[in-house]
Amino acid sequence: MSKVTVRVPGTTANCGPGFDAIGMACTIYNNLELALSPEGQTTIEIYGEGNSQIPNDDRNIALQAVKMVLDYHHIQDRGIHICLTNTIPLARGLGSSAAAIVAGLVAANAATGNRLSKQILLDMATTIEGHPDNVAPAIYGGICLSVMHSTGTKCLSFLPPKGLRLVVAVPEFTLSTKVSRQVLPKTVPLKDAVFNVSRSALLVGALAKGELSYMKYALEDKLHQPYRQKLIPGMEAVFEAAEREGALGVTISGAGPSLIAYTTVNDHAIGQAMVAAFENHSSKAAYHVLEIDTVGAEVIELIP
Ligand code: HSE
Repeated sequence: MSKVTVRVPGTTANCGPGFDAIGMACTIYNNLELALSPEGQTTIEIYGEGNSQIPNDDRNIALQAVKMVLDYHHIQDRGIHICLTNTIPLARGLGSSAAAIVAGLVAANAATGNRLSKQILLDMATTIEGHPDNVAPAIYGGICLSVMHSTGTKCLSFLPPKGLRLVVAVPEFTLSTKVSRQVLPKTVPLKDAVFNVSRSALLVGALAKGELSYMKYALEDKLHQPYRQKLIPGMEAVFEAAEREGALGVTISGAGPSLIAYTTVNDHAIGQAMVAAFENHSSKAAYHVLEIDTVGAEVIELIP
């Protein structure tokens, strides 16, 4: 029997204007242990975040990811045991599903001789998730710029500027990505597209050059956040609270409902102000001070 343990970071996608394109890995992690035996049943154990909500049968996306790698190598009839230990909150916009998919792919790849490149794993992960902006940083770490192309997903990753931290306010209520995408329009005005293209470009430049004073302008968005605001009570107040305490800017994290402030100062004052603003709108919340993970998915134990 082979046994592999992997650690995969949570992620924050979109980063304001970069809808379905820009994502960052965050220093919050899920672990997945995979044991493959020549024969036997499939079993899944789940501890920590989401343990009572995540399915432990064929609907489990970590299992689907493991099977995608095994099928690729025409490996059948294996006993598969998966143990998930989660700290990434579920359905809050911090990439818990991307982490599960990437964990399953990376663990199965390590258990089968590491024959698949990160590019192939990225293509597989994007196929399961439907968009690349969470799965890419979960694989590569750092800040990832992703493009879906007819020949596969292309991703350019780079390290974060020094001193940039992420204060994430996580409300108790959940929001599924499906619901959060249903409120988006099918088409947008050209001027809104231009608004986002210009800010996405500025955001990438500001992050790559460490010119963080531009973040204030670069994090604005007109493609998704205005439509999602109705799903996140108090969103505007939380943004204002974080900015009042010195944040460089604030966005929805992924599809929400968590809200994320980018800062170099006052981490805890920002977090407390964001939580208080959520609570003024009847939503209990907690905050985490995170950094940008620079490693991505990692095999932390391999017993062949
Ligand atoms: N880009 C995605 C969205 C991220 O905003 O819907 C959530 O998975």
